[in-house]
Amino acid sequence: MKNLLITGGCGFIGSNFIRFLFYETDFDGKVINVDKLTYCADPDSLNTIEKRYPDRYHLIRGDIADHEFMEEVFKRYEIDAVCNFAAQSHVDRAIVDPSEFISTNIVGTYCLLECVRKLSRFYLFHQVSTDEVYGSIEMERVKEDAPFRPTNPYSASKASADHLVRSYANTYGLPITISHSSNNLGPYQFPEKLVPLTILNALEERPIPIYGDGRNIRDWLYVEDNCRAIWMIMCEGKRGQNYNVGSERETENLELVSLLCDILDSIRRPKGIRQRRGLIRFIKDRPGHDRRYAMDCSKIKRELGWSPKYGIEEALDLTIRWYLGNLRWVEMMKKRLNGWIKSHYGKEFL
Ligand code: NAD
Ligand code: DAU
Repeated sequence: MKNLLITGGCGFIGSNFIRFLFYETDFDGKVINVDKLTYCADPDSLNTIEKRYPDRYHLIRGDIADHEFMEEVFKRYEIDAVCNFAAQSHVDRAIVDPSEFISTNIVGTYCLLECVRKLSRFYLFHQVSTDEVYGSIEMERVKEDAPFRPTNPYSASKASADHLVRSYANTYGLPITISHSSNNLGPYQFPEKLVPLTILNALEERPIPIYGDGRNIRDWLYVEDNCRAIWMIMCEGKRGQNYNVGSERETENLELVSLLCDILDSIRRPKGIRQRRGLIRFIKDRPGHDRRYAMDCSKIKRELGWSPKYGIEEALDLTIRWYLGNLRWVEMMKKRLNGWIKSHYGKEFL
């Protein structure tokens, strides 16, 4: 792996992955980061990498669904490996308007695969996927061979992309791996997602919205644990295989938000209220809201020796402290967010 194309590297997980790669691994090749710089992207989060490794890190603004542009990138930088993070990632936005989810998540992945198909020497195409492709899980945790049952336009677009990736492996012999990770939390997550949105509202002592009855179950994973898993899969994972990546701890949304409020109370006492849990408001449910995600992650543990380092409380504590220490970043992102909050949640939550 000499010239690694990372797509969507200015987003939440992609930027954490690039920092992880340069600071925590022995990777000594080049990173070419192609990012469209959409509403949630922050190229400045990689300023230190850019300054420290000017010959090894290149950011190019562009769309992975633009075939001509991507062909040029592959040629110019002699790309020999891909890690595809680029996506429209927010379920609520997909419900309002799926169009960009189709063009980026499906057509974009197809364009990348077409570029790779034409190369004579290629190391790996890693597709960053999600536990959402398995749909809502009623009984036992799902293993990697479970059928895809996506239920919303976001998860359907991710499942489509995974099918394309697998089909290129099967038909053209492309070396591929796929990681299905559960919900990530950590630094630089755009505050439309549950964890950072709750931190912001709780900090400012504003109402905290929870959809429905708050009993939906997610499996929370600290972003660094996901980055390590992706890197291990890329280096040692079996080609043609997919790997589930999660903490295997099931948490109801209400429990997560309450825990977050309590940790924040203990770090910074609230001013106008006794405890931040009191800010929770149950609001109209997300249409088609998946009840439970639950993956069996024994394969990556057994085959690659991966396991998460961070428990949910430590992950929340680290995440909260990062947001408290980066209030200028938060202010910048809040400006990008306000139109969405107003239209999605209404005035009470502004
Ligand atoms: P994000 O929304 O924070 O970042 C996505 C990045 O992709 C942004 O920098 C954006 O500008 C870029 N992008 C969007 N459209 C593009 C296009 N057409 N061309 C090039 N770049 C484009 O997302 P994230 O939370 O960091 O998620 C990254 C990947 O991980 C996604 O594929 C997502 O489906 C997957 N995933 C996320 C989670 C999670 O909890 N956040 C969990 C499992 C899987
Ligand atoms: O499971 C992996 C997926 O996790 C990723 O593939 C997606 O890219 C990522 O966005 C995330 O999807 P979710 O929909 O699970 O994340 P979100 O933070 O939007 O919501 C987490 C849970 O909290 C979900 O059950 C919906 C609920 N929720 C969310 C928001 C934004 C609320 O109750 N209130 C809210 O305001």
